[in-house]
Amino acid sequence: MTTYDNTKAAHQTAPRIWLITGVAGFIGSNLLETLLGLDQTVIGLDNFATGHRRNLDEVQRLVTPAQWDRFTFIEGDIRNLADCRRACAGADYVLHQAALGSVPRSLDDPITTNATNIDGFLNMLLAARDAGVKRIVYAASSSTYGDHPGLPKHEDVIGKPLSPYAVTKLVNELYADVFARAYGLDSIGLRYFNVFGRRQDPNGAYAAVIPKWTAALIAGQAVFINGDGETSRDFCYIDNAVQANLLAATATTPQAANQVYNVAVGERTTLNDLYALIHRHLLPRYPHLQGAQPSYRDFRPGDVRHSLADITKAATRLGYAPTHRLGEGLEIAIPWYSQHSA
Ligand SMILES: NC(=O)c1ccc[n+]([C@@H]2O[C@H](COP(=O)([O-])OP(=O)(O)OC[C@H]3O[C@@H](n4cnc5c(N)ncnc54)[C@H](O)[C@@H]3O)[C@@H](O)[C@H]2O)c1
Repeated sequence: MTTYDNTKAAHQTAPRIWLITGVAGFIGSNLLETLLGLDQTVIGLDNFATGHRRNLDEVQRLVTPAQWDRFTFIEGDIRNLADCRRACAGADYVLHQAALGSVPRSLDDPITTNATNIDGFLNMLLAARDAGVKRIVYAASSSTYGDHPGLPKHEDVIGKPLSPYAVTKLVNELYADVFARAYGLDSIGLRYFNVFGRRQDPNGAYAAVIPKWTAALIAGQAVFINGDGETSRDFCYIDNAVQANLLAATATTPQAANQVYNVAVGERTTLNDLYALIHRHLLPRYPHLQGAQPSYRDFRPGDVRHSLADITKAATRLGYAPTHRLGEGLEIAIPWYSQHSA
């Protein structure tokens, strides 16, 4: 069960109807688990582009039958305005997670990434506006900091995008801002920094680093580090991202709305150190990994070199307080991957 110990936010969560787009994905299914656990009513929209029915099945096993009965799933596509309107009908809050993630995917296929992340986003804004939702909280991205070298990253100082994916996430913020000014649609963008945890897909060419390396090590496959391993990231355990979503949706202070916020821990870890940490967590279960070493290959185009968030804005305006640092998140995520590896 998701640990959700920000009691302040939990108390603010009176019974409401929530729409989660991308509900069959990693972050979406974790939001679903938490909201159903809080006895909320949830509508979910997904087209299974990268999400899985097994994620919904797992949530069903983790909540009570009465809580599961409060969930309605719509199989549909955010590129289709009618699907977005159907999903938004009656919703108080929208947690918009549906998108095609991954910098390399966007470099391989910018058109599909653009259609999903920009056209789909615009459809969701229109549908949310016309349905009269209280607020749309949407998944923005740390990739928006682009080529700006400054560390830590402050919300108001960004560089140029380094990938089509980063362009789409920046455009989301611009559209949300225009919809607030032009139509009074209330929104909050959450710039996630490398979120990880249970149900994050370890498979495929575009998998994120933590599930990919963990699954590869368990399966006895090679682990590749792109570049020299000194690239760094602010890894954020899923429960912190879930907390940020609930706080963002329910925040009532005027200075909270129509803003973007970094969602991270505020700590930087290099890929070399990440490998060592994952290896250390796996070793007691998989002694054959003693002596396993990563292989190094070229830097990946489109990747930023270093990433570290300043989380002061989310802390002061939303009351965000991350509950899990990287090591604490790995302590939960790695056993989950062990149990779920084939
Ligand atoms: N995981 C991270 O570290 C991270 C970092 C920054 C931003 N984000 C953003 O957070 C959001 C969720 O990411 P995630 O890691 O859970 O990825 P995910 O791939 O697990 O989830 C995305 C979900 O959206 C669904 N989807 C994709 N296209 C769709 C469409 N056209 N119509 C309906 N549903 C569609 C997918 O099937 C999937 O279930 C995305 O917007 C992503 O860009 C994630």
